Amino acid sequence: MVFFSSLKNLFSRRDKRTSNASSLQQAASKKKGLAYSNGNQHSSNKSTAANSPANSTTNNSSNGHSFQYKDGRRYHGDSDVAYVLPNDDDEADRVHQQHWILRYALQSNYQAPVTDQLEKGITVLDSGCGPATWTFEMGEAWPNSTFHGIDASCVFPENIKPANVEFVIGNIAKEIPYPDNTFDYVHQRLLLLGLTNDDWENALKELYRVLKPGGYIELAEPDLQDLENMGPILRKLQYTMSDMLKSRNMPNKVACELEDRLIRAGFVNTKLKMTPLKLNHTDKAGKLLWDDYKHGYSNVRPVMAQIVPEWQDAEVYARFLADCGVEAEKNKTNVNWYACYAQKPTQ
Ligand SMILES: C[S@@+](CC[C@H](N)C(=O)[O-])C[C@H]1O[C@@H](n2cnc3c(N)ncnc32)[C@H](O)[C@@H]1O
Repeated sequence: MVFFSSLKNLFSRRDKRTSNASSLQQAASKKKGLAYSNGNQHSSNKSTAANSPANSTTNNSSNGHSFQYKDGRRYHGDSDVAYVLPNDDDEADRVHQQHWILRYALQSNYQAPVTDQLEKGITVLDSGCGPATWTFEMGEAWPNSTFHGIDASCVFPENIKPANVEFVIGNIAKEIPYPDNTFDYVHQRLLLLGLTNDDWENALKELYRVLKPGGYIELAEPDLQDLENMGPILRKLQYTMSDMLKSRNMPNKVACELEDRLIRAGFVNTKLKMTPLKLNHTDKAGKLLWDDYKHGYSNVRPVMAQIVPEWQDAEVYARFLADCGVEAEKNKTNVNWYACYAQKPTQ
């Protein structure tokens, strides 16, 4: 698989250089009492169904290592984090795969005009980095730059990583453990199932604080409510997603609000790009995106079933998703992908 061979290359490139980033994060983390991943901790992102009780909480003593187990799936255990997807191996594999599909469909890893800066060497934050496929790939592509990933859960590789990549555990909606004006470029993708309305406001305030004046921020999200050429079956799925998000005080159309939210947070020079992504039709990208879509919606079933109780039955839900796939193929449905970048004012 591309991902694994790419990772293998990364691993073999690792050297013993120490990075400024490491001491920067350690200092900030120590000061703020936050868990810092320095590569010496034991990685706990292991499969859970086999060795965990079906429903329980395990506290491994530090933030990001506290998990809840429900029906054989592992979730974060932080009551301040609104994220609804699991954080076990199955979900990490899905997110890795999703990265490659998005890169293939969008033909790029980013939209902001930062290529020259990345080449020269800048400091980058990947906010809500997850298993860090973007962070790793960018680290490998731009060895003169330094990449920091932050996530609420310890889902990123802790022990083996390129020398120019560092991770920290933290809730981006509370406090981002870096000094003011640290980063030249902040990237955040696919947090729509993780942040309430208040969380978005707090996170953007924090991202503004840690971005250098003149630095770029980029946010990217899909619109999961209104798809192009959407038939009645998919409409039920998408509007249930909206109802589920609204029931948790999460924005149900955050992709379409990215630009407004950035402006409200004080950023300037916004630029928005919308790309329709094919869902289960026309070519390989369409088929691959549908595989990921179906997988993602399967993983979010427990909270979707709180809105549509018949989906508590996994087989009923699986049949419903299969019907969605047939309908998307027939109607040539597209998911609209929004990427918005902006700058922190220089004064
Ligand atoms: C769908 S994954 C996306 C990962 C990555 N950005 C990507 O595009 O591949 C969302 C990630 O956001 C993280 N997350 C959710 N809420 C968070 C929060 N409040 N603070 C930090 N990370 C959060 C989750 O733990 C998860 O790893």
